[in-house]
Amino acid sequence: MDKKLNILVIEDSQADAELNVRLLRSAGYEVTYQRVESAPEMIEALNGETWDLILSDYLMPNFTVQAALEIYHKGGLNVPFIVISGAIGEVKAVQLIKAGAHDYLLKSNMARFIPVVERELREMNNQRAIINISNALSSSEEKFRSYIDNAPDGVFVADETGKYIEVNDAACRITGYSKEELLTMQISDLLPDESHEIGITQFSHVVNTGTSKADLLFKHKSGMLRWWTVEAVKLDETRFLSFTKDITDRKNANLEVMKAREELQHLNQYLMDARENERATVAMEIHDELGQALTAIKIDLKWVQEHLEDIDKSSQKLSRIIEMTNDTIKKVQRISAELRPELLDDLGLATAIEWYSDEFEKRTGMKCVLSLEDVPDEGERINLALFRIFQEALTNIIRHANATTVYITLRPLPDGITLIIEDDGVGISQKSISSGKSLGLIGMRERARQISGTVEFSKSSAAGTKIVTFIPTPIKDPDRI
Ligand SMILES: Nc1ncnc2c1ncn2[C@@H]1O[C@H](COP(=O)(O)OP(=O)(O)OP(=O)(O)O)[C@@H](O)[C@H]1O
Ligand SMILES: [Mg+2]
Repeated sequence: MDKKLNILVIEDSQADAELNVRLLRSAGYEVTYQRVESAPEMIEALNGETWDLILSDYLMPNFTVQAALEIYHKGGLNVPFIVISGAIGEVKAVQLIKAGAHDYLLKSNMARFIPVVERELREMNNQRAIINISNALSSSEEKFRSYIDNAPDGVFVADETGKYIEVNDAACRITGYSKEELLTMQISDLLPDESHEIGITQFSHVVNTGTSKADLLFKHKSGMLRWWTVEAVKLDETRFLSFTKDITDRKNANLEVMKAREELQHLNQYLMDARENERATVAMEIHDELGQALTAIKIDLKWVQEHLEDIDKSSQKLSRIIEMTNDTIKKVQRISAELRPELLDDLGLATAIEWYSDEFEKRTGMKCVLSLEDVPDEGERINLALFRIFQEALTNIIRHANATTVYITLRPLPDGITLIIEDDGVGISQKSISSGKSLGLIGMRERARQISGTVEFSKSSAAGTKIVTFIPTPIKDPDRI
């Protein structure tokens, strides 16, 4: 306990005042004091200084303890007020205590003086501490409230059963519910089936450990599912506070990026496989078609070598050999044209499409209806990209469309080139269009994307499948692509 005491003594007798002070000093207190004996003196003393203790006589020539107590109360002071007087009788003593004095001592019996002073100082200290704490609490409660109300994040306070006992405006915005509605709800009411278990686990975590943090799916009042990031802390045994942010847009963007990354990985694999398959096809064609033709030529040449004397027959054979050689040359041209149509470089996109459509008709029996307008020649890469998109579209038609006619349109637009391939087959499903596994389609889109273009697939029951490719021109920076 602080042993320094500044005492206000209300007493007409200097000797009595000193007596009390001496008792306190002998109990180890370092005492400073002022003696007053009238109302004005008392008021001035209270205004001028802070006091630890007030000792008052009962009756003085110009003052009474009742008047002193009135002044004391008006001042709203938290200082022990002890009355020390001659015998006044029990009734008056009780009245004094009722009037607000902390204790009453007889001048003739000061044995209780020190213990009473000590008890009152201790109680006063406790009371002051409680007042300080409650002031601090109410001001921090105020701060807490205003912080919660104005927080940009959704703030929810739940009790230990998960029932909401406090929410802010942002929480209402995020959930779509009003404050009144939320205060009748509990955490599990906002959790959809998908995240019910993990949501409850997170709540148990904050109850048991004091904190938790997670990204969870929540159910908006409209029924929409939204992603929230939730950070929770334990305030006390019955209050758990969570800060909640709606991160649906961010989460969706991340999912898009992840989906694109996955598609790209698949596409890489697909392109590698496609290259291998193409090599295998070319090897097979060279082996089957050219190999056989060259073997036949070789056999016939050998025959001519051995029958040179038979001019007529040799000449016949040589004519056959020339025919076979011509056929072989055509086969070589076809195979190499499939791999990389020279026409594309020499005569442009429209001619290459015409040639390929012709081959396609011969191979499949389907009819191609062409509407090819002159388009600006924007260079090899663009022609090749459009041609490959066209090739893949036609290959898909053979494999999947069950069509009889293909409509091919190449047209210049004010701001680009469009290539439209439409068939009258069964039509493509929406699932195939959006599937990350449709690598042929993704490859077509990717080819267009690399030259800032787009490919759109659609199904119309009348027209089967429609593929619209658009490439913006002129290409501003061809080196970039
Ligand atoms: N013209 C079309 N008519 C009907 N369905 C089509 C058409 N084109 C594509 N599809 C559907 O879209 C799916 C995806 O096409 P995609 O080209 O990506 O793959 P694929 O042709 O099956 O295999 P590949 O990877 O060898 O090209 C096909 O499996 C098919 O179901
Ligand atoms: Mg395909």
